[in-house]
Amino acid sequence: MPHRSLPGDQDFGVERLRYRDISAIVALERLVFSEPMSLGNLWRHALSRRTVYLVIRRHNTVIAYFGFAFCRPYAQVLANVTHPDYRRLGLARRLLSEGERVARARGARAFMGEVRASNTVQLAALQAMDWQVAGQMPAFFGDGETAQLVVKVFD
Ligand SMILES: CC(C)(COP(=O)(O)OP(=O)(O)OC[C@H]1O[C@@H](n2cnc3c(N)ncnc32)[C@H](O)[C@@H]1OP(=O)(O)O)[C@@H](O)C(=O)NCCC(=O)NCCS
Repeated sequence: MPHRSLPGDQDFGVERLRYRDISAIVALERLVFSEPMSLGNLWRHALSRRTVYLVIRRHNTVIAYFGFAFCRPYAQVLANVTHPDYRRLGLARRLLSEGERVARARGARAFMGEVRASNTVQLAALQAMDWQVAGQMPAFFGDGETAQLVVKVFD
């Protein structure tokens, strides 16, 4: 199925995080997650050489992002969010694909992540991008929810 498109819109390029993006990312975390990453933790990650945040901006504001931290041989997913107004445009697909290129170039051999068992949208999106569920971890999240451990082994 073709992706939705925004009339007259430019290409959604994937770029690296700039420090001025952090407040928009904090706002998106608070909008979509029941346990959002704190501002302090986001700054710690943004300043770390082990962490990569890729973003897509529109009108200079972040509308989608994908963060991961190197923990060799894995790249550990921190978060993958698309603003609700921009979903089903292929932004997550674009970010994860570019993220894989970056992670491989830095020597990682797979992505690893944890997804709430109730987050069927993210599980469907990852499955569509050839990720696999490797197992479950009960009570992984602060509210007691089980995590599905997801993995994408690079070819
Ligand atoms: C999950 C999420 C990141 C997907 O972002 P997105 O930019 O809308 O995803 P894409 O448009 O790139 O979709 C890629 C594929 O995923 C699948 N997919 C995406 N949204 C879906 C939905 N609501 N239902 C079923 N499949 C879906 C589709 O196969 C889609 O490909 P297609 O559009 O060609 O059919 C977004 O829904 C989101 O931000 N959710 C809230 C945050 C979250 O839960 N993040 C995960 C935990 S870190």
